[in-house]
Amino acid sequence: MSKQFDVIVIGGGPGGYIAAIRAAQLGFQVACIDEWKNSKGGPAPGGTCTNVGCIPSKALLQSSEHFEQAGHHFADHGIGLKDLSIDVAKMLGRKDTVIKQNNDGILYLFKKNKVTFFHGRGSFVAAKDGVYEINVAGTATEVISGKHIIVATGSNARALPGAPFDEENILSNDGALRIGAVPKKLGLIGAGVIGLEMGSVWRRLGSEVTVLEGLPTFLGAVDEQIAKEAKKAFDKQGLKIELGVKVGEIKNTKKGVSVAYTNAKGEAQTLEVDKLIISIGRTANTIGLGADKIGLKLDERGMVVVDDHCKTNLPNVWAVGDVVRGPMLAHKAEEEGVAVAERIAGQHGHVNFNTIPWVIYTSPEIAWVGQNEQQLKAEGRAYKAGSFPFMANGRARALGDTTGMVKMISDAKTDEILGVHIVGPYASELIAESVVAMEFRASSEDIARICHAHPSLSEATKEAALAVDKRTLNF
Ligand code: FAD
Ligand code: NAI
Repeated sequence: MSKQFDVIVIGGGPGGYIAAIRAAQLGFQVACIDEWKNSKGGPAPGGTCTNVGCIPSKALLQSSEHFEQAGHHFADHGIGLKDLSIDVAKMLGRKDTVIKQNNDGILYLFKKNKVTFFHGRGSFVAAKDGVYEINVAGTATEVISGKHIIVATGSNARALPGAPFDEENILSNDGALRIGAVPKKLGLIGAGVIGLEMGSVWRRLGSEVTVLEGLPTFLGAVDEQIAKEAKKAFDKQGLKIELGVKVGEIKNTKKGVSVAYTNAKGEAQTLEVDKLIISIGRTANTIGLGADKIGLKLDERGMVVVDDHCKTNLPNVWAVGDVVRGPMLAHKAEEEGVAVAERIAGQHGHVNFNTIPWVIYTSPEIAWVGQNEQQLKAEGRAYKAGSFPFMANGRARALGDTTGMVKMISDAKTDEILGVHIVGPYASELIAESVVAMEFRASSEDIARICHAHPSLSEATKEAALAVDKRTLNF
């Protein structure tokens, strides 16, 4: 007889492993199946986020930022350095150690919470009497069965037609995190989150970086004022971003890559680079899942179709994270995983899509929560906005990083905060205060009345709140 579980989670990324742990905490017998292999063929749970996404990209962003600081900013502090160099192999080795710490951490958490881990590929076999049979193909093959199934199979990088990833010259996020030597010329297609983060890493280390973006506007999803400020900073750093391009033929010559494109003026151009990263979005990963075996509904792009509660068209089959609609973010996947486990237990799990923060870990960092000015204008909603520049913040001056601002937007009548948008130092950490405020439906006046430590960057959030009422104290 096959092994029986109350809950089987397919996929061990942030959506899946967190769902498995929460379900186990709630008293269920839980299995989690994940196929990711480390370089030795062993298990490497944590999904895209841990292995080729959030964690390794932030490790490289940190290393390259140290290099940038040492090369360009230490002198301002009176620190002299001779013969600054970068050992790329060591930097990549450190990144791999960080990944392994996270993989091992998840395996430990599975043990601690009594989640049974299967290393292999999970696929639906059949549904019988309200129980789903899942084939696990790993070093051995076995069939396990469960009453509730959570699909958390994540996403893969989208390729451009005619330019398959070889991970040598034409790179997805995977190859982009393994480049073995600083390329002289690096090209990126897509000035989205990956394009800007990975472009920043290699520019800081000395590459001449060109990013080709199809849309005529820079970071269209970001508040216009914030995006403009960020673009100014990237231009100053020498990150070349061409907007409104139409990419044509891409030739992989094995020595490098040439990209034919038409620029915004309609002129034919060619970009010759040593390496090309394609970062034009991601597609849901449902290939080989056996969705057809049980009639699990997918949309035309291969995403699992779910309702607001992550329920699929089949009883007791749920789906979370990148494989379903909504932003492709690790913390969104985690929140959905927790909510589904709680719903299975008869509780009222909830994910508030209005307060999911976004962060782009460039320098300056960009972070936001809620609605931006252009969205509110399009909705015709009356609002008030106030902003405060880091230039006028004492801590930012002491840090030597005064780029950017905090901008707060609230309802014109009720003063409820509708959105907070930050470009500047530690925006990734600062945004948390605004997420909490919005979750509690605070007003800008609430933030303005709260005592913030001095000197701290968080005072810029307080001052932005004061700015909504046109009464900043330090600007
Ligand atoms: P995934 O993390 O993709 O995990 C899915 C797992 O399921 C994988 O391990 C996969 O091998 C496994 N799997 C798939 N099919 C099967 C099967 N049939 N059987 C067994 N296992 C299977 N998000 C952020 O919030 N912050 C960031 O800073 C950030 N940085 C990123 C940087 C990069 C370069 C990239 C590419 C992404 C980044 N993201 C970031 C996005 C984030 O990685 C994803 O949103 C997140 O990983 C989605 O989690 P998930 O659990 O849905 O899927
Ligand atoms: P993205 O959606 O952020 O950006 C893709 C960009 O490529 C867009 O600006 C789009 O207009 C452009 N584009 C699409 N097709 C094009 C074409 N043919 N030619 C030129 N430009 C084209 O996607 P990206 O950067 O690949 O990242 C995928 C996802 O991973 C992100 O949306 C995000 O959800 C997640 N991620 C999150 C991070 C974070 O939270 N810090 C970091 C990295 C990724």
